[in-house]
Amino acid sequence: MGMRQGMAVASGLLVCLFVGTLAAAQTTPRAAAAKMKNPVASNPASITAGKALYEKQCRMCHGATGKADTAAAKSMGASDLTDAAWTRGSSDGEIFVVIQEGAGPEFKMKGFKGKLTDQDSWHVVNYVRSLGAAK
Ligand code: HEC
Repeated sequence: MGMRQGMAVASGLLVCLFVGTLAAAQTTPRAAAAKMKNPVASNPASITAGKALYEKQCRMCHGATGKADTAAAKSMGASDLTDAAWTRGSSDGEIFVVIQEGAGPEFKMKGFKGKLTDQDSWHVVNYVRSLGAAK
């Protein structure tokens, strides 16, 4: 292949790499998240599992009760998970996507992809939903 074609192929590859990287950082669209079905029944066992995971992974930022009323929570502007305000949506799927992919656009909360399995994330969703006014 000629020099020109070579350059075209190389820049095509670069574009693919770039788009691939973007896709990895991009959150699932809200509409798609809202439609996700929680495959894990919200029963006491799941909520207990979710609570244990919450205490390991979320408590330091959102506080023991999810109210985000600790000094650390306030200083970083962590969300109260017990009130009725859900900037990113309060459906199971929307909360799941925040847990997995982080809270954009600033991502002060990073996603737990690779740290929490899907199954464990749904347990955490069930726990968070049990905390307060999520509807
Ligand atoms: C490093 C601190 C930190 C950790 C760890 C963390 N969060 Fe967050 N979380 C935040 C911050 C800060 C925000 C608000 C981000 C913003 O508004 O820009 C947030 C936002 C959220 C939201 C969105 C609320 C809304 O109203 O849209 C949910 C849901 C949430 N966190 C759940 C969790 C869960 C569940 C865990 C544990 C798996 C967790 N977070 C771990 C800091 C954290």
